[in-house]
Amino acid sequence: MELVVLENGREVSRYAARIVAQQLLINPKTVLGLATGSTPEGMYSKLVRIFNEDLITFEEATSFNLDEYVGLPKDHPQSYFRFMKENLLDHVNFKEGANHMPNGLAENLEEECVNYEKMITSHGGIDLQVLGIGRNAHIGFNEPGTEFVAETHVVDLTESTLDANARFFTSIEEVPKKAISMGIKTIMQARKILLLVIGGSKADALVKTLEGTITIDYPSSVLKLHPQLTVVADKAAAAKLKKIK
Ligand code: GLP
Repeated sequence: MELVVLENGREVSRYAARIVAQQLLINPKTVLGLATGSTPEGMYSKLVRIFNEDLITFEEATSFNLDEYVGLPKDHPQSYFRFMKENLLDHVNFKEGANHMPNGLAENLEEECVNYEKMITSHGGIDLQVLGIGRNAHIGFNEPGTEFVAETHVVDLTESTLDANARFFTSIEEVPKKAISMGIKTIMQARKILLLVIGGSKADALVKTLEGTITIDYPSSVLKLHPQLTVVADKAAAAKLKKIK
């Protein structure tokens, strides 16, 4: 595991964008695992800038997103589909059909999960998975208690997550109660993982991830077992880590 602690969120975003850019340069046919949330926003905007400078191309790359809410129309301002379009996909040159997201409107959600997993496998698996982390140490939408062997599945969101995500909706009642998420197993199968952690509200979750025991009560704690994990955090997020004090 490599831990990089930087001054602030801006620097985390810049560092993360360089890792993704490096990956695309080394392997233009990279299969990227992408995340949503406020954490990776800055990374996407830096990546768009690097793309506009003609330094990288997404032409041969593929992407799979971690998760999507169940029941939100694709064009809903808070759908992850729309987030990805606005933050990255509309601004770079992925080929049509190269970007995959779980379909939270599928008639048969269980079947959608199985197909999503198959699709990832048929592309040879994920080369680089970008991750954020929830305040309760969830990754994707794998809430505390999720078995590590889980593949892509339908999730009931916890109060803590509904509460954290309520800021994006007009009221907490509007936040979808379910989502489709890649499972922990799916995430752990990625060849490399890039975990981004920004802000003091994530400091406890980062301690649970890096210094606590490995337990399904803190899903991100499993990441310690990944052979190619890079954690990029800002000082605020890293403030409670014993190792760097
Ligand atoms: C959501 C997403 C996660 C993300 C988390 C943290 O629950 N499903 O993938 O890591 O939020 O989001 P933020 O970066 O906005 O704090």
